[in-house]
Amino acid sequence: MVNRGASQLKNYARIIGTGGYLPEKVLTNADLEQMVDTTDEWITKRTGIKKRHIADTGQTACDLAEMASRNALKAAQISPSDIDLIIVATTTPDRIFPSTACLLQQKLGVSGSAAFDIQAVCTGFIYALSVAEKFIRTGSAHTALVVGTETLSRIIDWQDRTTCVLFGDGAGAVVLQSSEDLGVISTHLHADGNYQQLLTVSAGISENYHKLREEGAFIQMQGSEVFRVAVRTLERIVEETLVANNMDKGEIDWLIPHQANIRIIEATAKKLNLPMERVVVTVDSHGNTSAASVPLALDIAVRDGRVKRGDTLFLEAFGGGFTWGSALLKY
Ligand code: UT7
Repeated sequence: MVNRGASQLKNYARIIGTGGYLPEKVLTNADLEQMVDTTDEWITKRTGIKKRHIADTGQTACDLAEMASRNALKAAQISPSDIDLIIVATTTPDRIFPSTACLLQQKLGVSGSAAFDIQAVCTGFIYALSVAEKFIRTGSAHTALVVGTETLSRIIDWQDRTTCVLFGDGAGAVVLQSSEDLGVISTHLHADGNYQQLLTVSAGISENYHKLREEGAFIQMQGSEVFRVAVRTLERIVEETLVANNMDKGEIDWLIPHQANIRIIEATAKKLNLPMERVVVTVDSHGNTSAASVPLALDIAVRDGRVKRGDTLFLEAFGGGFTWGSALLKY
């Protein structure tokens, strides 16, 4: 599905603030060496990850989302009551229902706006951004809070070295607002359910995650096959996005990729002819935070001054489903 409406309508959806939150507890590769048969060298070489953050036992995905959202609202200099749409992308919702978006709305102390979750695993934030952009473009919403938040540590088998070294917890958020200035240029969303078995969790998620652990409902992944499809697919979406906008590779200022593996990120950067200095990399210190990884990376690059107003950003993600997507935008 391709949305390329921004050029036909005056209402653009523009990011006016970003925020992130990472739980305090840090799990290093050295810590993992004590838990499973692995080494810092293997993890670093194969994935680029050095450490990741892990939510406290009492912290839920919504708690992380609240912190990231408050940071984004502060950066946007608006209050929660200015928000008329909340979309939360998460694979690890607090409960089956109410949605994490409704729980977040309550935590932010407001009510009445539309609020719902989106589930597209690691591509969740790109899906959420795309949906929020459509609400704004059509005039159905003026100011949207779009969040990616995950507590993947709850669904990790800490005895499975092939997956437990990869993931981390965190949240990222953006405030998207109607604007006459160019913002989101186009978004590209895809899925292929034929790949559902390569990356999956076999049961539902809830606040009572210890029950899930007893049931053995952990992330299972056939890593090298996922890797191959991810590289191939992300290369294709680079092409698709550039062609849809009649844009040259040289016009992209920053790649803000999903942070699953440094080797996947490097392959996408190569496809875009972008040197790694123009790629925002957080996988080394966050691991793979699924739906949270793109907004977290964006927030970090905005706050440290790398991403500046007017820059052209290429956001992309690939994840379970499989799902994949991209968003091209002017920051
Ligand atoms: O975000 C959603 C999408 N997810 C992704 O895009 C992740 C895609 N996949 C990957 O990033 C990579 O495939 C992994 C990082 C998961 C694995 O890297 P790989 O280079 O594909 O390794 P592999 O799975 O082919 O395993 C190579 C070897 C195996 O040993 P043998 O069979 O060759 O003796 C594994 O058992 O490495 C072994 N291995 C480990 N060794 C030390 C697997 N995990 C570990 C580990 N420590 N943690």
